[in-house]
Amino acid sequence: METVVSGIRPTGNLHLGNYFGAVKNFIKMQQENNCYFFIADYHSLTTHPTPGDLHGSVRQVLAEYLAAGLDPESSTLFIQSDVPEVAELYLLLNMNAYIGELERTTSFKDKIRAQPENVNAGLLTYPVLMAADIIIHKALKVPVGKDQEQNLEMARKFARRFNHMYDVDYFPEPKPFNFGDELVKIPGLDGSGKMGKSEGNGIFLFEEPASIKKKVMRAVTDSGPTKQNQEVSEPIQNLFTIMKQVSTPDTLQFFQEKYASCEIRYGDLKKQLAEDVINFTTPIREKINDIKANDEYLGKVAQMGAEKARESAVKTIKEVREIIGFRKF
Ligand code: TYM
Repeated sequence: METVVSGIRPTGNLHLGNYFGAVKNFIKMQQENNCYFFIADYHSLTTHPTPGDLHGSVRQVLAEYLAAGLDPESSTLFIQSDVPEVAELYLLLNMNAYIGELERTTSFKDKIRAQPENVNAGLLTYPVLMAADIIIHKALKVPVGKDQEQNLEMARKFARRFNHMYDVDYFPEPKPFNFGDELVKIPGLDGSGKMGKSEGNGIFLFEEPASIKKKVMRAVTDSGPTKQNQEVSEPIQNLFTIMKQVSTPDTLQFFQEKYASCEIRYGDLKKQLAEDVINFTTPIREKINDIKANDEYLGKVAQMGAEKARESAVKTIKEVREIIGFRKF
């Protein structure tokens, strides 16, 4: 059994990008691996330092994880801040992480552009905390979307550096994982770029059908193909990409052929896409509602997860302290 770790920040409800980029693979992995899936609430403070209702957001994502199909019995489902050992490993790894390399990461550059009024040290050291999340359980595989590739590269670098500096072969190097396929990038409905929480272009698992329909019907398109077998433009390719996830292969092929023969009607494409997204999300939304009504169950899941995650984290921290040279008097 291989160890798997992955997480999601609780800065909003889960959207289709989170689901198809990450959660779908969490579900596939949980049967045959030793999986740790968590809610990255420490990380969320880097962009939302004074969250209105942190507990409520964490609770929502926990219910969404469960409704989407994560099994708290076969995997370890926990909340990052319930495992303080991760903060200790983060501190120790920070001593061997260099300002230059952290400043050069794309996500840091993007974030400081997005929030110039709050360029905090947590943002700079975000990849270090992420590395701590992963290597504290000695994970080999990390199911994530394409946007996390660079963070994973950093995690491997910090694991390697630790081994080298203390002359041990202790941390394995974690790799992003998508069952042999390329990592996924689910686009937004605004014509370009990825679906994201802060981009305002997301469709959420918890979203009401009427709202989903409205968003899909308003998705950016183009003026239509003018010649046979024309290359598909980015906004239309984006709709096909989402369709590939939620619709049957026949449906996708039908609209692709209509595009190729210049007979496509975007209104029909969007109507079908909206219907298929709604069919996909409705059972999940209903389950989220059921699970959210059951505080006792959510409490039990979080407590069980925290205990299992700490067991593994405590062991690693004890060994790391010994490796570095901390000794008890
Ligand atoms: P976050 O919360 O931004 O996103 C959670 C997961 O969803 C994936 N994702 C997408 N995949 C495809 N297309 C999209 N449009 C899309 N949007 C989001 C992300 O790739 C991610 O897998 N830093 C992480 C959270 C984290 C973590 C970790 C992940 C903290 N520690 C350790 C793995 C291991 C993040 O901000 O994800």
